[in-house]
Amino acid sequence: MTDTRIRRIHARRVWDSRGRPTVEAEITLHDASVGRAIVPAGASTGTREALELRDGGAAFGGLDVQRALGHVRGEIAAALCGHDAADQVALDRCLIELDGTPAKTRLGANATLAVSLAAAHAAAASAGLPLYRLLGGEPATTLPLPQIQIFGGGAHAGRRVDVQDFMVVCPGATNFAQALEWTAEVYRAAGQLMQRRGALHGVADEGGWWPDFDSNEQALQTLVQAIEDAGYVPGEQLAIALDVAASEFGHGGRYRLALESRELDADGMIEMLLRWTERYPIVSIEDPLAEDDLDGFARFTQAAGHKLQIVGDDLLVSHAPLLREAAAAGAANCVLLKPNQRGTLSETLHAWQTARELGYAGIVSARSGESEDTSIVHLALGWGVGQLKVGAFARSERMAKWNEALRIEEHLGERARFAGAGVLGWSR
Ligand code: PGA
Ligand code: ZN
Repeated sequence: MTDTRIRRIHARRVWDSRGRPTVEAEITLHDASVGRAIVPAGASTGTREALELRDGGAAFGGLDVQRALGHVRGEIAAALCGHDAADQVALDRCLIELDGTPAKTRLGANATLAVSLAAAHAAAASAGLPLYRLLGGEPATTLPLPQIQIFGGGAHAGRRVDVQDFMVVCPGATNFAQALEWTAEVYRAAGQLMQRRGALHGVADEGGWWPDFDSNEQALQTLVQAIEDAGYVPGEQLAIALDVAASEFGHGGRYRLALESRELDADGMIEMLLRWTERYPIVSIEDPLAEDDLDGFARFTQAAGHKLQIVGDDLLVSHAPLLREAAAAGAANCVLLKPNQRGTLSETLHAWQTARELGYAGIVSARSGESEDTSIVHLALGWGVGQLKVGAFARSERMAKWNEALRIEEHLGERARFAGAGVLGWSR
């Protein structure tokens, strides 16, 4: 007999891929089913994200999470025990009301998301279903198109280059497994290129090769070369996706490219990016302008939105009201979805539903501080989002996600579909 009422909520401190403390919640139901989730952490966070509650003080650089853990074990456990874990909407509403602030500043989004996600896992365990099936039912059979980092940069690589993610997508692949095979060859070829140049210095935070380049554009040239060296035609089988993460170096309409010792205004940024899209096979650009530059974002979207996926991460922070604001201004055509930017599953899903209504595409995304938790793969599939961004093709906190998607694709067998090229916003 299944009984999905929550019997116990526990929280423990575990460690993320940067060796920093983070929150794991574990929920046990009355029927003894157990669900567990680990919360990730960003480095290039948007200012309008929900709050990640850290303790401050001396230990672990102020990053300990004892207060968030205390909230899960205390207030949250007291409020949610007896609740139905299978009723995600009611459970998340309870978390939101308990916190009572717009950005989870009282309990912490790390506390609330751990519980929200662990409850979903517990409900899936009780139903004897993988999480993506619980979330999406029978129709949830489409494996997402992955965006996979080859070179890291920005805040994930000591700002050695300004652009944060140099990634590949495989619009020409026929299934998820093939997209990974092609990416593996390109990742390897890129490493060999760096080695030949005497520029191989290990990897950045998300596993992409460390960016030893003289300019941002040199990274693009090297990426194209790596695709060719691996035996593919750039722009056909594989194409390029960027996360400029411009909020990291742009404020008040001024953009400081440290690597190239120059400063651009929004028009200068737009011109530079448009030039890149003419020279290189780029199909997607995330945060081309800063979070405080809605106007620049809209102008870039006007100039390139017909041929390019333009993704809002710091601009939209998975928040439905900000999506409506961006849509009214004509900014971006795709939303990045990071559950810890909001602090509950339901609010993140609401952002995706709003995006769909507004005609935006979506990408479920990991954070730069990750763990072995593979929930986001299930969210991408279960919600039918169509794209998944996890970081590079190295380091087990990244590979755990890619490998989980492979297992699901194999399990689905004949029923498996692959999002492929059609999912990219510009091609609709
Ligand atoms: P973050 O980076 O997790 O450090 O914010 C990921 C991203 O910007 O997409
Ligand atoms: Zn981003």
